[in-house]
Amino acid sequence: MIAKTLILLTALLYSNSIVIDREQPDFAKDLGIKVDKVEPLDKEISTEILERVSKLVGKLPEFIAGIELFKGRAQVRRSNEMVRAWFARVPMGDPVAGARVCLAMDMAGEILGVGVWGSEDFDADEHGRWALLMNSLRTQSSPRLRDGEIAYGAVEASMQKIEDDSKENGQIARALARTRRGMNRYALVIGNLNMLLQQDKLMPAEWFDPIIDDMLTLADDAVAFTPVIGSKGAMELSEKALEALAAFEEAKTLAEDEDTTVEDMADLVRRYTTAGGICRDCHDSKSGPVASNWRRVLRNKIFELEVPAGMMQVGFDIPQAAGDDGVISGEIGAAFRGAIMLMDQLRK
Ligand code: HEC
Repeated sequence: MIAKTLILLTALLYSNSIVIDREQPDFAKDLGIKVDKVEPLDKEISTEILERVSKLVGKLPEFIAGIELFKGRAQVRRSNEMVRAWFARVPMGDPVAGARVCLAMDMAGEILGVGVWGSEDFDADEHGRWALLMNSLRTQSSPRLRDGEIAYGAVEASMQKIEDDSKENGQIARALARTRRGMNRYALVIGNLNMLLQQDKLMPAEWFDPIIDDMLTLADDAVAFTPVIGSKGAMELSEKALEALAAFEEAKTLAEDEDTTVEDMADLVRRYTTAGGICRDCHDSKSGPVASNWRRVLRNKIFELEVPAGMMQVGFDIPQAAGDDGVISGEIGAAFRGAIMLMDQLRK
């Protein structure tokens, strides 16, 4: 009797573990869109493809081989239309082992839905930072970009070239590269701050730290742009950066005070965004004595010097999630990139 029970139990456990392995993912929940007729995608993945994608993603072929693919139908964003789609579930490694990145892609290569789940932090996403990171990845991921098949590490290679350039141009390029990295970070952090305010929540104070540092760096870097925008332009740029820094510091101090209400923070944001605005001070083409001249000149310089962007690399053109040191964001980025690059190769 005991032996029989044991066998039964073993069989149950064994079959259970198989069931868990092949568990049908709940893409409707993971992606927040309607899905239909989801089933495994039975496509052979050759060693050649595995190696190719591995290089494009900067991860071992074993990692790429672990990506689970499905096919079915999925909802087009903000519409009721259902289209043919492929789905991916990417099991993540350390430091977020057990978590998963999920996405759906239509046959033209557009990303229909994304999600990251499976750790307490991801599931609760209390401050919305993971959702915003996934959204950055989704919007940056145009099929056109991927057609270029830019290998992982291209950013580092370009940056190295810029690092090694000892001439004046090298100095400008380094400063521009730092500026862009910082700018992408503000866009995400300020987006996060605003999203939380709409949800009646405050952003953790320390999330302002990197953007405060970046503004200080920009204030220092401004002088490097003198050959391009003149000493007057450089001085104005530096002044604006210090003004923005002061605004971010004020926001941080406010966030640190436990008596601060959502309304207080919203007031501060309003104060800065209506009167010129932290971002608009530099980015508005019409306002102020600076006008847009130096920004246009800098833009041209970016193209001339080929300061890299649009390579979908977390830590560079995709900023790490607010409050993350970049490690977990980097893993999410690699999982995302792995899934779309693998699907792209199989679609070809
Ligand atoms: C002190 C001036 C200054 C302030 C303030 C400023 N920016 Fe910028 N921004 C720049 C410069 C300089 C560049 C680099 C040249 C360019 O891309 O036009 C830039 C570029 C950018 C880019 C393009 C990055 C890329 O990869 O091409 C984004 C996005 C951006 N800024 C967002 C923001 C946001 C959001 C804010 C407000 C939180 C902000 N900026 C505030 C000066 C500023």
